[in-house]
Amino acid sequence: MWKKYAGVAVVVLVLSVALASVAVRTDEFTEEDLKRWDKEQMSVVNYGRELWGSGDLGTNGVACGQCHPNGSNTHPETYPKFQQQLGKVIALRDMINWCLRNPMEGDPLELDSAEMIAIEAYLMHERKGVAIAPGKH
Ligand code: HEC
Repeated sequence: MWKKYAGVAVVVLVLSVALASVAVRTDEFTEEDLKRWDKEQMSVVNYGRELWGSGDLGTNGVACGQCHPNGSNTHPETYPKFQQQLGKVIALRDMINWCLRNPMEGDPLELDSAEMIAIEAYLMHERKGVAIAPGKH
């Protein structure tokens, strides 16, 4: 009788060791992984920084950085939030497009375009370490 239980115990033990090692493996990043991710991230952030200083996004030659130097007064960490200009709770990318249409008199960016992602990556990078505060004004 005890042999039957011992067999079950061994199976349970083997299964839990196997599961634990899978869980550990998914959390392990190599130095190579971290370097690659940082490099990819910074190349998109740098593209966003370039766009920030560009007078070609709108039609009047004005750049984001002229009104928001280094991303100032953009508060990406407060989105989604209610914005009076659009009359509803909006995402950061909607506010980016609002500035493109209004002060810059241009066309909005496609929401999933490389440019939109780069601008968001740049803004979030500038605010790294600031607490997330959705809805805050
Ligand atoms: C001519 C000046 C001007 C330019 C150029 C400009 N903005 Fe703005 N931006 C504003 C004003 C005015 C507001 C409104 C402030 C508010 O209501 O929060 C604003 C608000 C924002 C906000 C929201 C700020 C918050 O606190 O919620 C974001 C994000 C933003 N701009 C991004 C951009 C981006 C991206 C560009 C370039 C594509 C850009 N802006 C270009 C004037 C400008």
